[in-house]
Amino acid sequence: MKKVDRKILLNPGPATTTDTVKNAMVVEDICPREEEFGALIEGIKNDLVKVVHGEDEYIAALFAASGTGGLEAAITSAVPKGKKLLVVENGAYGTRMIKLAETFDIGVVRYQLEYGDYPSVEAIGKLLKENEDVSHLAVVHHETTTGMLNPVQEICDLSHKHGVEVIVDCMSSYAGIPIDVKKWQAEYIISSSNKCIQGMAGLVFVIFKADLLPKLSEQKRSFYFNIYSQYVGFEKTGQMQFTPPVQVCYALRQAIDEYFAEGEEGRWSRYQKNWDVLVEGLQDMGLSFLLPYEQQSKILLAIIEPKNPKYNFDAMHDYLYEKGFTIYPGKGAKSATFRLSVLGDLYPKDIEDFLVALKGYLTSIA
Ligand SMILES: Cc1ncc(COP(=O)(O)O)c(C=O)c1O
Repeated sequence: MKKVDRKILLNPGPATTTDTVKNAMVVEDICPREEEFGALIEGIKNDLVKVVHGEDEYIAALFAASGTGGLEAAITSAVPKGKKLLVVENGAYGTRMIKLAETFDIGVVRYQLEYGDYPSVEAIGKLLKENEDVSHLAVVHHETTTGMLNPVQEICDLSHKHGVEVIVDCMSSYAGIPIDVKKWQAEYIISSSNKCIQGMAGLVFVIFKADLLPKLSEQKRSFYFNIYSQYVGFEKTGQMQFTPPVQVCYALRQAIDEYFAEGEEGRWSRYQKNWDVLVEGLQDMGLSFLLPYEQQSKILLAIIEPKNPKYNFDAMHDYLYEKGFTIYPGKGAKSATFRLSVLGDLYPKDIEDFLVALKGYLTSIA
């Protein structure tokens, strides 16, 4: 097995991966139209549904793309012509879904908040009442902009009372935060291969209710990002319609196996241990956070930037990067922040080492 230097990625994906996931990409060349490869994809799709306990009710469409491609597939496939999409916008990824819908001339009802404000279920109810032409609601589960965990269960319950279907961007929560999709009853959830599932970048999946297929067959907005044709195409032929990133698929297979070996609880509790070490260490250094504790995803932390005039994010980044730690800038939150995530193949010792390095930077500017 080839070993490479281990880097500690504290950006919210693509994440630090295991050597076994990296090495899973070194495989014999294979044509993705071979039966053997079709069986690999079939297994991956079934297991992706199992991660969120959706067996027998949900199915998965897999695309070669980054996460945004999956959002594009879900939104353009789901919202019928003449109907509107209500978007909960309390971070950059909510805004992205609005821009995406508008690109396809899909009417949007915007529930706009500052990045870092918690959505009010009452306000969403009011918008649903006032806009009867809304057929779908889109919300980000874990808003990676701020580290906020949005109240998806309440939003799903409320939307369904209004006959509205729900699209949940689970990009940075899937396989990290336990999700029971049958409990949510969300119609569509989306995630990608390179975040908490800990695979390589290049694949995105939409997990959706199987009984939506007849309705989806009527939607023809996108040729490539069409959930119906992608799902049905694979069912008919055992092949992906378009060339998949072959080696990335093998890495995802390995990452899924490692997920099930660790277990849903195991992964969540490892991330929690990382989180506890991180929070305590940052507090000891006098740093404070954007969100109140109860709104935190406990996977990513938006930290208020130090007031010290000598502080400079880029300088801090470069100082830490040289020591093998990658950190992430803020993304338009209501206060200036930088972000640290604990997702990926990371352990409390990694976070402790990072805290020593961060302290080194902060001491150097004190
Ligand atoms: C919540 C959320 N949605 C969407 C995306 C977009 O994914 P990508 O950059 O892979 O297209 C990200 C990426 O970080 C994300 O965190």
